[in-house]
Amino acid sequence: MNFTPIIAANWKMHKTPNESIKFYENLKSSCKNLNNIEIILSVPFTSLSSFDAEPPFFKAAQNCHWEDSGAFTGEISVQMIKELGTKYVIVGHSERRHIFGEKNSDINLKIISISKSGLKPIICVGETLSDRENNNTENVLNDQLKQALKNMKDIDNITIAYEPVWAIGTGLTAGENQIKSAHLKIKEILLGLYPKSQDIHVLYGGSVKPKNAKSLIKVPGVSGFLIGGASLNINSFTSIINNVNII
Ligand code: PGA
Repeated sequence: MNFTPIIAANWKMHKTPNESIKFYENLKSSCKNLNNIEIILSVPFTSLSSFDAEPPFFKAAQNCHWEDSGAFTGEISVQMIKELGTKYVIVGHSERRHIFGEKNSDINLKIISISKSGLKPIICVGETLSDRENNNTENVLNDQLKQALKNMKDIDNITIAYEPVWAIGTGLTAGENQIKSAHLKIKEILLGLYPKSQDIHVLYGGSVKPKNAKSLIKVPGVSGFLIGGASLNINSFTSIINNVNII
């Protein structure tokens, strides 16, 4: 792996501001001797102001609106997120796509807005089980990436998270060969779209646990993880970090 690995927690709709502060303090004291690793905590909007992350820890939001301000009741703009010391924003998570009907065109507007503000989008892509069974994985990845990046001049600031939808929260992990081919495909698609771009981080997400982290991080093309369930518990999250930190 040529990159500093990124280990990103995705807390989804879990943890109050007080619980978030406690977790962060615990995490700092249980992760000693971190070298060459970046740890991202994607917390609910309400927890973004509850702690100041110090490197190698960084804060991420889990979503945003693409407009700077306006009559959009219940929405949060990138500027609001940025002022709270946030570095990353997750976009296009499969739960946003499937539960909230987020379209590739919405995701594209969000990515443009995040990039303009100087923050970094973590763009989630991945196929459903029926896409995979119908041999449609490559088409889906191609389509999601192309549409997400429309009108983006460069991709130097982006991170991709490959998350097969059927592996999220199910305990099923994609096989190492499946992950390898999806990650290499993503890199090939990006290189086709941006021939001059540098190689970017492609994280794997979908039932990453302490017991599989050590082998998954060695899969060619994988430069980190986006972790849901196992990131909510201090012991399992720390154990994943430690497994990656010694590689
Ligand atoms: P999981 O979630 O680790 O619980 O499968 C991953 C994600 O939704 O990002």
